[in-house]
Formats: sequence, structure tokens, C-alpha cells
Amino acid sequence: MSRNDRFLKACRGEKTDCTPVWFMRQAGRYMKAYRDIRERFSLMEMFKNPDLSAEITLQPIRAFPVDAAIIFADILLPLEGMGIGFDFQEKAGPVITKPLRDIGDIQTLRVADPEADLGFVLESLRRVRAEIDGKLPLIGFAGAPFTLAGYAIEGGSSHNHLKTKQLMYHHPDAWHLLMEKLCDTLVAYLKAQVKAGAQVIQIFDSWVGCLSPSDYRRYVLPYSRRIFAELREEGVPAIHFGTATAGLLSLMAEAGGDVIGVDWRISLSDARRLVGDGVGLQGNLDPIALLAPRELLLRKADEVLVDAQGSRSHIFNLGHGLLPSTPEDAVKALTDFVHEYQT
Ligand code: CP3
Repeated sequence: MSRNDRFLKACRGEKTDCTPVWFMRQAGRYMKAYRDIRERFSLMEMFKNPDLSAEITLQPIRAFPVDAAIIFADILLPLEGMGIGFDFQEKAGPVITKPLRDIGDIQTLRVADPEADLGFVLESLRRVRAEIDGKLPLIGFAGAPFTLAGYAIEGGSSHNHLKTKQLMYHHPDAWHLLMEKLCDTLVAYLKAQVKAGAQVIQIFDSWVGCLSPSDYRRYVLPYSRRIFAELREEGVPAIHFGTATAGLLSLMAEAGGDVIGVDWRISLSDARRLVGDGVGLQGNLDPIALLAPRELLLRKADEVLVDAQGSRSHIFNLGHGLLPSTPEDAVKALTDFVHEYQT
């Protein structure tokens, strides 16, 4: 591998030789190499063993000419150090052992200690950075406070975030205390990730699209803003991602991020009008396009690339993570197509 810094350049709004591309969930079940490891270990074992998580981080960058590596971890991992236990179950996905119900539950939460509680992620970052340093940039990440609060209150994945909104509306003191504790945990964790070798940070506010703009402004924006302000002090570029956020994009840009990640429910040109010219865009192909006939996949990718023109910079990605049934050769074809596209 020779030096490839087009992703870092695009994050900073600088010109690149071609559009950089990486994929959310680029390490995962769609890869045979991943499934071979997954057969022998539980997800938690994989996250907590730096030998395994570093190896899994490297699998997609060996298989595809993507322009960045993203550390193999999960947004829920910091919850454990705060006193919120959880497990990944085969069918149900993540399940919180004792979902947060009231202010009493929230008052007992701790602020996680990055080295003591999440040292395995930091160790994995150090190892991967040593392996790819100077060749390919390494992305660290965390969930945004809202999306993590959603899991902790709902107890797992949720369609409408009913319990989360109920806590927000009925017990604003409890809500704000929870968001403050999450912020304290996330700021320390992200700073530690940067020290351990993360060169770009992505904040996943995956489920924030369930909120109205006024609720976002009141209950979420001050906390997300604090995370981005603290990251700015570290000098690393930040990507701010969410799904179903067409109605929130201008507020998300106000909260922060050098690059705003968008999903396929809005065109990149419309997104650009909402976020302004001061930030780059990342996205936004529908992950299911990779399951379409090859010609249609590439036509859809072409549409995204055309639509991105005029943005400060564009990082090609999907609008959400790669799905487990994605063919590996479609990922390769798409990556090559983006690199060969002449802007
Ligand atoms: O992108 C990458 O390659 C890095 C690894 C990564 C994982 N999770 C590994 C993982 C990242 C960036 C995440 C973030 C994450 N985790 C998010 C935000 C992104 C998004 O998808 O919106 C969320 C909401 C979670 C919570 C989570 N983790 C869920 C809902 C699930 C179950 C759903 C599923 O896909 O199975 C997980 C498990 C998980 N995290 C897997 C992986 C690769 C599935 C692994 C498996 O079963 O083998």
C-alpha cells in the first residue's frame, strides 16, 4: 500500500485526485473472512480482544481499495463502563439488561473511564494505526448522546422511541442529567481514541431522525455541539452522521462536523442547500443498491457522484451500513467505479 490521504484531504475540504470512498459496516457479516471468525467467537469476545478486532478492521482494507479503515467496535460499548449492561442476541440485536426508567437509575450512572473501561478499543486503535500508518487513515467513532440514550432507555432497537420521548417530555431533569453523563463519557473516550491513533472521528446519531426540529434543538443540539467543540480542540476532522435527517440537516450542521453524513432519503444537492457550503458531504447510496443488478448499481452510484458536484467536498459512502447479504464483488465493483469516475 502506498500513501493514500484523499479521505483526510476531503474531510478538510481540500481537492483530491478522485472521490474517496469507504463504507459504514465495511467489516461485517457480508465478508466470508469475517464470518469465519464470527463462527468461533461471540460479538463481545470479538470487540474485547484487540487481536481479533484489529484483524477484523484490516479485513475490508485488504479485500477492497477503500480509502479509510474504521476501527471494529460498537457504539454501545461505552455504556457498560457507565453501569448500563447489555448483550448482543442473535435475532434481537442489542438488548440492555436493565433499561433506564427514572432519575434514580440515571443518578447512579458513572462516567466511563476510557483506559479502564474501553482499553481494548484503544489498544486495537494503536495496533491498527501502527500497521497502516502513513498508508491509509484510521477512523475512530462513537454514538451520539441521543442515539445512545435511546438504546439505554428503550432497552434495544426501537421504531418510534416512545419511551425516550416520554422521559424527555415528563422528566426533563432526568433527560438532561443523562445527556450530560453521556457527553462526559463520550468526550473522554473520543479524546483517548485520538491519542491512541484515530485520525478522523465519526459520530453516529443513527436514530435522531425520529425527532422534530424543535425537540432536536432543545434536547439534543447542545450536547452534540459540545462533543464537536471538544473534538475541534483535538484538531481531528469530524463526520456527523444520522439517518432520516432531511428535516434536521441544518441543525445538525449547526451542532458541528466538518462533514455531514446523509442517507438516501434526500438528494445530496438538496442536502447541500440545507447544510451550506462550509462543510463536506458523505453518502448517500441506498445500501440495497448493492443487491441490484450490476448495471443498475453503477447507474445509481453515478447519480450520487453527479449529484455531489458543487459540494465543498464529497466522500462516497452508503446512506447506512452495508447489509449482511451484500455480495463482496459488488463492493469491489462499486469502489472501483467511484475511483474511476472523473469529476
Ligand atoms: O463500520 C464498521 O465496519 C465498524 C464497526 C461497527 C459496528 N457497529 C460493528 C457491528 C460500527 C461503526 C457500529 C456502529 C453501530 N452499532 C451503530 C451505528 C451505525 C448504524 O448502523 O446506525 C449502531 C446503531 C450499533 C448498534 C448495533 N450493533 C446493532 C443495532 C447491532 C445489531 C444489528 C446487526 O447488524 O446485526 C449491532 C451489532 C454489530 N455491530 C454488528 C457489527 C459488525 C453485527 C455483527 C454480527 O452479528 O456478526
